[in-house]
Amino acid sequence: MKIGIDKIGFYVPKLYLDIETLAINREVDPMKYKKGLMLDKMAVAPLNQDIISMGVNAAHSILTKEDIEKIDMVLFATESSIDQSKAAATHLISLLSLKKNIRALELKHACYALTAAIQFAKNHVKENPESKVLVVGSDIAKYGIKTDGEPTQGAGAIALIISKDPCIAEIENVSGLYADDIYDFWRPSYSPYAMVDGQYSNEMYKKFFLESYEDYLKKSRHKKEDIDAFIFHIPYAKLGLKTLSLIEPNIESNLYQYFNQSIVYNQQVGNIYTGSLYLSLVSLLEQGEMKDNSRIGLFSYGSGAVAEFYTIKLVNGYKNHLNKIYHEKLLENRKALSIESYESLISTHLTNDIKFEDENESYCELKEISHQQRKYNIKAV
Ligand code: HMG
Repeated sequence: MKIGIDKIGFYVPKLYLDIETLAINREVDPMKYKKGLMLDKMAVAPLNQDIISMGVNAAHSILTKEDIEKIDMVLFATESSIDQSKAAATHLISLLSLKKNIRALELKHACYALTAAIQFAKNHVKENPESKVLVVGSDIAKYGIKTDGEPTQGAGAIALIISKDPCIAEIENVSGLYADDIYDFWRPSYSPYAMVDGQYSNEMYKKFFLESYEDYLKKSRHKKEDIDAFIFHIPYAKLGLKTLSLIEPNIESNLYQYFNQSIVYNQQVGNIYTGSLYLSLVSLLEQGEMKDNSRIGLFSYGSGAVAEFYTIKLVNGYKNHLNKIYHEKLLENRKALSIESYESLISTHLTNDIKFEDENESYCELKEISHQQRKYNIKAV
C-alpha cells in the first residue's frame, strides 16, 4: 500500500517587511541579507493572526467535505505554542468542523515536529488504511529587535493530508536519523524570543545533515544519484545552499537548479520553523519541473537537536493537485510594513482582554481573548 502526501497547502499572513528596509534601518549593508543570507521578504503576523488561525487558514485551503469525513487524527506541530496544556489541535476540531471521534494533539520539537507528525500520520494510515490524517505546522519566528537572528524571522503555516493512494507523493520507508543533546537554539518557556548561538547552530545543522544523510545511505543502500532533488529545512536559504555544496561540488549539477526552485517561496516568507522544509517542497513542486516518479530527499532539522533525512517519490500527475495560482496570489497580495509598524507588531505580546474588529481578510482570524480563552472569527463562504 502506498502512503503519502495527498494534499499540501500553506498560508502566510498579509503583512511583510522588506529585507532591504530592515537592513537600512539596522545600518547593515543590504547585500549581507540579500546575498549573504539570500533573503528577500519576511512575513509578519498581524495581532489577529496566531498559530491557530494561520493553521486553520492553511488547512481550509486544502480540505474538502470528503476529507473532513475521513479525518480521524489531527496533529499540530509548533514551537510557538499559545498554551502549556490545551493542544492547538483541539481548536481545529471546531474551527474546521472535524468529526469528534478523533485523536487530536500538539507536538513540539523545534522545527522538526512537523516531520515527526508526518511519520506518525503515515504509521496511523498503515494501521487504518481508510483514514486520513490532517497534519499542520504553524509558527511565528521571533528573535527580537536588533538581534543577529532578526532578518531570519517569519510567520506562516503548512497543512498536509496524509492518506493511502496519495495524489502528490509516496513517503518511502527509510529514514536516516541523528540526535544529540545540544544548545544551538532554544526558547525557555518564560521568553517570547528565541535564544541562539548563531554560528554554532549553522555548524550543527551541517553536521546533523551529514550524519543523518549517511545513516540514510547506509540503511537504504541508495547512492546520491538515486535522488533527483534535495530539499532542506530553510532557516535562511544560504544555509541550504551551503549544505548542498557539502555533497555536490559541481555547481552545474541539476541539483542546484532544483534547489533554486525550492527556495522561491521561502525567500518571500522567512523562517516558519516547523513548516519551512514543507514550504520548500511546495516551492519546488509549483515553481519547478520535477518529472513524475522523481525521488526527492528531505532534510528535516530541529534545534536541540534532531535530524531526519528521508525520501518521497512523486506520483503520476502530481502537478494537477497543486494550488500554484492561489499560493502566488497569497504572496503577491501582501502589504509592506514600515519599520515602526513591524517593531510595534513583533514586540506586542497578547494577554487577556483584547478584542479585534472583524477584518475578514482571511478565512479565520483571532476575534478576542477573554476569560483567558481565545475565540476566532470564521468568514462565511
Ligand atoms: P551573522 O553572524 O550576523 O552573519 O548572522 P554572518 O557574519 O555569518 O554573515 C552571513 C553571511 O553574509 C556570510 O556568508 C557573510 O560572508 C555574508 P558566508 O560566508 O556564511 O557564506 N556577508 C555579505 N555578503 C554580501 N555582502 C555583504 C556581506 N556581509 C556579510 N556586504 C546568523 C547569521 C545565521 C548566525 C544569524 O542570522 C542567526 O543567528 N540566525 C538565527 C539562527 C539560525 O537561523 N541558524 C540556522 C541553523 S539552526 C536551524 O536551522 C534551526 C532553527 O530553524 C530553529 C529550530 O529548529 O526551531 C533556527
